[in-house]
Amino acid sequence: ELVTETMEAVQKGGYAHFMLKEIHEQPQVAREVLHMLAGSTEVKRVLDAIRNARQVYFIGCGTSYHACLAGSVYFAQLAGRAVIPVLAPQFIPQYLPAVNKQDVGIFVSQSGETKDVLNALQAAEAQGMTCLGLANVIGSTLTKATACWLPLCCGYEISVPATKTFTNQVVTFLYLAYRLAGRDTRPLEDIPALMETTLNTAAPQIEAIVPAINPWNDLYCLGYGATYPMALEGALKLKEITYAHCEGMLSTEFKHGPLSAVTENYPVLFVTGPEDVPLIVSGINEVTCRGGRAIAIGQEDSRLRANASEVITLPEASPEISSLLSVLPLQLLAYHMSVGRGYDPDFPRNLSKTLTVD
Ligand code: G6P
Repeated sequence: ELVTETMEAVQKGGYAHFMLKEIHEQPQVAREVLHMLAGSTEVKRVLDAIRNARQVYFIGCGTSYHACLAGSVYFAQLAGRAVIPVLAPQFIPQYLPAVNKQDVGIFVSQSGETKDVLNALQAAEAQGMTCLGLANVIGSTLTKATACWLPLCCGYEISVPATKTFTNQVVTFLYLAYRLAGRDTRPLEDIPALMETTLNTAAPQIEAIVPAINPWNDLYCLGYGATYPMALEGALKLKEITYAHCEGMLSTEFKHGPLSAVTENYPVLFVTGPEDVPLIVSGINEVTCRGGRAIAIGQEDSRLRANASEVITLPEASPEISSLLSVLPLQLLAYHMSVGRGYDPDFPRNLSKTLTVD
């Protein structure tokens, strides 16, 4: 018993939970994946396949799907390449009839074993589509079943809620988008240090707002453009480990219905990129003028300060890097809310790390 407990404490490296440890590993694994990508011969194969493709699909489930969504925003915004992000089980009914061997799919999965993803992969392969992979677990079915794949370089991720594998999926897509656009990738080397700064500055700010938000079992997390996928991912983290219902949504959609939920102090999180502040501020005002609590996550900005109830500040960075950074405070928020509720964020009820069933 004592040996098991001691071993677990060692594995957690001084952190109370694996999730917190893995959140703090993000700068280091980002550095590692960027280093790997810079020296990889597979990157060229992936880029060539994308360049020659008629249509490109990014396919995944859960958190990995949110990375697909972020990747599709970066590809369009930075490289002018429209990509279709798809929830794996929807690939077969919706897109399979439309694909052929001129198309490329990137199948994204931490475990490389998610049945929903493998089903889509098998069907796409049979249709002649070029299937590429993005996986953390080397030797997994996904890495064996795709001709060409890129590793996420995260090491083991033990906590059920994915954190470092998500950010490395996003970093990989960002890197590929830069390369596709013919951009210098050196600015991406700032990511690890910016992640470090984000974690350090956000941690006390997040801990300070938890007592006000935690009594609520119902909240929203909104984003726009490149922060939209981050809002969805933040909402998923919250649902997974706090058991509260948190809905992720495009910020502009909130006024088309969900606004009716707002009552005194009702919490709404607004994730914003530096260029989207005016639009986000108008959403914030819709909430605050009805007594709701609008928590903004973005770079220091007087317009956010003047309108939001609280601002969680991100360091100065380009819009695309800023969107990546914005998910870190949301991971911390989910973590501290979960612990505050007395739950174990590493092993939430009803969930498993890898779903190998339909
Ligand atoms: C499970 C996990 C989720 C994960 C999803 C996809 O449902 O609980 O955290 O996002 O599977 O997993 P994958 O290994 O394919 O990324």
